[in-house]
Amino acid sequence: MTGDFVKVANAAEIPPGAARVFSAFDTELAICNVDGEYFCIADLCTHDGGPLGEGELIGNQIECPRHGARFDVKTGKALCLPAVLPVPTYKVELRGEEIWVAAQATTSGAR
Ligand code: FES
Repeated sequence: MTGDFVKVANAAEIPPGAARVFSAFDTELAICNVDGEYFCIADLCTHDGGPLGEGELIGNQIECPRHGARFDVKTGKALCLPAVLPVPTYKVELRGEEIWVAAQATTSGAR
C-alpha cells in the first residue's frame, strides 16, 4: 500500500532507544528510534487504548505503560498479553534530518 508522506518530526527530536509522540493527519503517532532506524506505530495500544509512545522502548519492543503489553515496533505485532491484536504501523522515510511518515498505515491494527 502506498500513499502520501507527511513531514512529522526532526530526527534530532528522537534519540536512539527513545520513542516520541507526534500528531499528524489526525492521528497520534509514536516514532521509535531503534539504533538509528526509525519506526512509526499508532500511539494507541490495541488492548485498551494506552499511550504506547510513553512506554519503554527495549530494542525493537515497546511496552505499554498501562498494563505492560509489548509490541514489535517494526511489524506492529503484539508480543504478549494483555494485547492480542497488532498495532498499526506506518512507513517512515528519513529525508535528510527530517522524518516523513506515510499517511496511510501499512498494517492495520483495527479491532
Ligand atoms: S492498554 Fe496497553 S496493555 Fe492495556
